[in-house]
Amino acid sequence: MKILIINGPNINMLGIREPQIYGQNSYNDLIKYIHDYCVKENIYVNFYQSNHEGDIVDKIQQSYEKFDGIVINPAAYTHTSIAILDALKAVEIPTVEVHLSDINLREEFRKISYVSLAAVKTISGKGFDGYIEAIDFLKEYIK
Ligand code: DQA
Repeated sequence: MKILIINGPNINMLGIREPQIYGQNSYNDLIKYIHDYCVKENIYVNFYQSNHEGDIVDKIQQSYEKFDGIVINPAAYTHTSIAILDALKAVEIPTVEVHLSDINLREEFRKISYVSLAAVKTISGKGFDGYIEAIDFLKEYIK
């Protein structure tokens, strides 16, 4: 199974940005956590992070027929990006949407997710473990 993990804007600032919301651990800690899990589970995993909407769209397009599943935390683009939604619909790769914080318990504008319209599942408010849950879900979903 080949999984692509995509993180959107400001996720590279984990550990620095609003630690009371996103925790003390860094983006590199997140990558290591997921990578170690995938090694244990014998899953091929690739990581991509960008602060730019079009680059994320490009990455999703390039993933066509290359990955079995996508785990995406679109970050702020969750609430604005029809382009990311359309790219996910175009490639038809099963996608799980993940958020570190619980977007339903925060500001009103965070309750709207365009990306969820293309996702087979949304996991919110579970921190780093949300990514592991997403991978486990895809494992069952894809087989
Ligand atoms: C986030 C939630 C978004 O609303 C926010 O813009 C982020 C991170 C999360 O992981 O909780 O950057 O996707």
